[in-house]
Amino acid sequence: MKKLTIAIDGHASTGKSSIAKKIAIKYGYIYINSGSMYRAVTLFAIENKLLGELNDNIDLFIEKLHAAFINFRFNENNLISEIFLNGRNVEKEISSLEISNYVSKVAAIPEIRKEMVKLQRNIDRKKGVVMDGRDIGSVVFPDADIKLFLTASDTVRANRRFEEMINNGLSVSYDDILNNIRIRDSLDSSRTDSPLIIENDAVVIDNSNMSINEQIKQIILLIDKKIVN
Ligand code: DC
Repeated sequence: MKKLTIAIDGHASTGKSSIAKKIAIKYGYIYINSGSMYRAVTLFAIENKLLGELNDNIDLFIEKLHAAFINFRFNENNLISEIFLNGRNVEKEISSLEISNYVSKVAAIPEIRKEMVKLQRNIDRKKGVVMDGRDIGSVVFPDADIKLFLTASDTVRANRRFEEMINNGLSVSYDDILNNIRIRDSLDSSRTDSPLIIENDAVVIDNSNMSINEQIKQIILLIDKKIVN
């Protein structure tokens, strides 16, 4: 059976990663959350007090970033590829609101995007890949077999994110989250390098009023049609 490259792009907190994970598990594909890579770079900058260099000396920042090591390791227990920064599992830390508040600015820097796209394209696609992000169908894998674009109203998304963070034991306010989502939408869509856009050949799914299972069913139909063709 054909092994596909599936690109899932869309607005912040539209459930891209939950859907991507389920699809990857169902088909035995590799799942990569590209947003977590930009978040790991942001964590790296904060921890090493390099936020200033991001604005003033990007060449120095990239040099230091080259000495750092960002990779994914498959966790047999939850069947997810988890992100490691210099050998440390940083999955939990990168989901904090502090990182969310910085990450869109970091992800708008062309030199950083260049480095991340290089890492993303290095992934072996022979076994099938599901990658989610903002520029996967447009820049990273323009040849993807399936391109999905997920969206939902910002208040629905803020509610979902709020519940997720509270369930993870984080103390946050709904208004801060809604604000963060609105700012990120605007930064992600308006940046000059690789802005969030809907590709002509993408299937758009507005999941404001859809369950995950309904979306999965729709996506499985698309995949099964491609696998046999
Ligand atoms: O999906 P996320 O919210 O974890 O992504 C974090 C940030 O990284 C988000 O503001 C957009 C940016 N991003 C990007 O520019 N390109 C990607 N391929 C993935 C994420």
